[in-house]
Amino acid sequence: MAEIKPAAIENEISRDRLAELLNEDLSREYQAIIAYVVYSQVLSGAQYMDIAAQLEIHAKQELDHALIISRQINYLGKMPAVTPKPVRTSKDPKDMLHYDLDNENETVRNYRDRIRQCETLGEYAMAEQIRQILMQEQDHQIDLASALGEEVPDVGGGPEARNLGKRR
Ligand SMILES: [Fe+2]
Ligand SMILES: [Fe+2]
Repeated sequence: MAEIKPAAIENEISRDRLAELLNEDLSREYQAIIAYVVYSQVLSGAQYMDIAAQLEIHAKQELDHALIISRQINYLGKMPAVTPKPVRTSKDPKDMLHYDLDNENETVRNYRDRIRQCETLGEYAMAEQIRQILMQEQDHQIDLASALGEEVPDVGGGPEARNLGKRR
């Protein structure tokens, strides 16, 4: 039917779909844990000492995020995923930091969507938990961008945000 707009369909969210998306988030958290565990230890060179220490802190925070996200998936009656997204490696410290920054950008984009989706479903406490995670992810972005001497990228709010304007 002509009246159903694609944007409206994309903005529809069910609890099952939210659990699926949270499982994607969980796989990204596992990816982040692995990347930060490894990168924090192999980054060498005096100029990377500070960021290597920060990456160790990130690793522990990502584990906390994984636990919080798993709890939400369980609460939604689904089984938490057990597979990380693929982790890239490089011998070049700059490459490693760029991979981390790319992943954090993707994570921030997704959590911004997830908060909106939780609120659409009336899951305000869950939205709040994800907001707390998002604050740390944005700090991770800043740490990485500063170590690379770059501006923090404006990643916007992801596909959901781009569709918001089309909402009735
Ligand atoms: Fe995280
Ligand atoms: Fe992070």
